[in-house]
Amino acid sequence: MAGLRRRRGEVGSLPAADPRLPRLPRRPRRPGARPPPYPNGWYRVLDSAQLPPGTVRSLSLLGEHLAAFRTRDGQAHVVDAYCPHLGANLAAGGRVVGDCIECPFHGWQFRGEDGKCTSIPYAEKVPDFAKVRTWPCCEVNGMLLLWYHCDGTGPTWAVPEQPQIAAKEWVFRGQTEHFVDAHIQEIPENAADTAHLAFLHGPSFLSGSDLRYTKSKVWDFMKHVWKAEWQPEPEPNQHCSRMLLQHTATVFGKRFPLLDLSVSARQVGPGLVFLIFEHAFLGHGVILQTVTPLEPLVQNVVHKIYYQKNVPAIVPKFILRAECVQFERDITIWNNKQYLLKPLLVREDASIQKHRRWFAQFYSEKSTRPSAPKEGLDW
Ligand code: FES
Ligand SMILES: [Fe+2]
Repeated sequence: MAGLRRRRGEVGSLPAADPRLPRLPRRPRRPGARPPPYPNGWYRVLDSAQLPPGTVRSLSLLGEHLAAFRTRDGQAHVVDAYCPHLGANLAAGGRVVGDCIECPFHGWQFRGEDGKCTSIPYAEKVPDFAKVRTWPCCEVNGMLLLWYHCDGTGPTWAVPEQPQIAAKEWVFRGQTEHFVDAHIQEIPENAADTAHLAFLHGPSFLSGSDLRYTKSKVWDFMKHVWKAEWQPEPEPNQHCSRMLLQHTATVFGKRFPLLDLSVSARQVGPGLVFLIFEHAFLGHGVILQTVTPLEPLVQNVVHKIYYQKNVPAIVPKFILRAECVQFERDITIWNNKQYLLKPLLVREDASIQKHRRWFAQFYSEKSTRPSAPKEGLDW
C-alpha cells in the first residue's frame, strides 16, 4: 500500500508502492507489541497555500476524516468531516459561508471557531447541543498544523517559528514526500540510534537507497563519517530533543572538506523536526521534517528545505537529494521491521532506551492501545 514515492500534495491519499524498491513479504505484525498509534502533539495537515480563502479540503489523518476550510478573512479551521445531523461529509460539496462551513445536504452551518451550529435553514430554533467537533490548529512556517490529544486536552506547547523563514532570508528550495509503513515512533527513535549511522548511512549517497547495492565496491571510494549525540532538552522545552551531527566525507580515504557539515536536528514533539544546516562557506538553511500518522502504521513524511537566498539553489537541492537517499535507506528498514517493545540492546545503544523514556511523555493513560486485530487489517 504505502511506498517510497515522492510527490507534492496534502496528506491522506496513498500512492502505489515504488516497484524499484525491494519489499519483503509482509509478516503479520503482533498485536499489542508496540506503543499506542497516535502520540499527542502537533501534526502537519497541509501547506497553508493549499487552502486559499473560501475553500474547503478533505483530509484523512490520525485515523479520522476531517474537513479543513479557510474563511475569506484568512482564518483556517479543521473540523470533523461528518455532519452531526445526518452524516454528510462537509468536505464533499460543503462551502464556506462567513466564519462557518455549510453542509451540502441540508445547509446547516457550523462555526469554525467552536463548531457550534449557527443556522438551520428550515428550523425555528438551533438546539444548543448542535455542534461539530473542532480541532485546534495553527499556521507556522507556511504549514497548517493540528493538535491531537487523546484526552481532548488543548495544546501544551506552541510550534516554534523559524525566524529566517518568516523574514524571507531563507527561501523554499524544494520538498520530498514519502509514505512509511511503520509506527511513528520508529522515525524519531532513529536520531537516538547512533550505531546505525556508520553502518546504514556510511556508504556514499552515490550508491543510492537500494540496500542490496549500497555496499557495492563501485562506490567504495567515498564514505560518510558521522559523529552524533542525542539529548532531551530541559524544562520548559521537555517536549523537545536535539541531535547534534557532525558530517565529514572521505574520497579515496582522504577527507573532502567541501562536504563537512554540522547539523542540529531539533525534534519538537512527535511530528516535527528542524534540521539546521551550517556549512563553512555554503551557508545556512533548514529542512523541516514533518511526520503525520494517517493510520497506525502509515506515516506521511514531508521534508521541505529552506536555504539562504543568496546561495545558488543547486546547493540546497543537492543537500535535499543526499538527505532523501539516506532517508530512503531508513525507510526500507522501517517498512520491513517490527517494533520491539523489549529490544536486545548493548551498552552502546543506551540512548535508544533514553529516547523511549523521553518519548513516553507523548502518550497518556487513555492513549488507545491496540486490541485484537480486526479481520483483514494489519493493526
Ligand atoms: S447532513 Fe448535514 S445538514 Fe443534514
Ligand atoms: Fe537513519
